[in-house]
Amino acid sequence: MTASDGPGQTAGAGDLVAAARGAREHAHAAYSNFKVGAALETTDGTVVTGCNIENATYGLTICAERVAMFKALSEGHRSFTRIAIVADTEAPTPPCGACRQILWEFGGDLEVTLANLTETTGLHRLKDLLPLPFDSRLL
Ligand code: THU
Repeated sequence: MTASDGPGQTAGAGDLVAAARGAREHAHAAYSNFKVGAALETTDGTVVTGCNIENATYGLTICAERVAMFKALSEGHRSFTRIAIVADTEAPTPPCGACRQILWEFGGDLEVTLANLTETTGLHRLKDLLPLPFDSRLL
């Protein structure tokens, strides 16, 4: 839970996880059968969700986190606070390397909540998940 979980504030961590659980239901994971949901919160409190979408080529699969981020960017959002990621696993499902890079580029040091269908399994800052990042400051 975070400081923004109080009454009258933006969606609490629980709400964000619930949104990610709902998004997971829409996952198209016909090949791996591994469904993931994500919910990304903007600084104005808007929640944008995503799910993984697989493809027969496998390599064109896009993860739930990047779907959420690209949806949000395409809708004009540019500033983000938190993301929740949900999979039906006992162990935490952290974002893959490609997603860490994209989340860092557009979201900065997001708070990252990992959860499964019943409980939270991890709480991280993105800077800890992507140490020594390559980004526009280095160009
Ligand atoms: N996947 C995600 O959507 N997010 C993650 O954080 C980990 C992996 C998806 C990609 C693929 O569709 C399936 O999970 C198995 O790797």
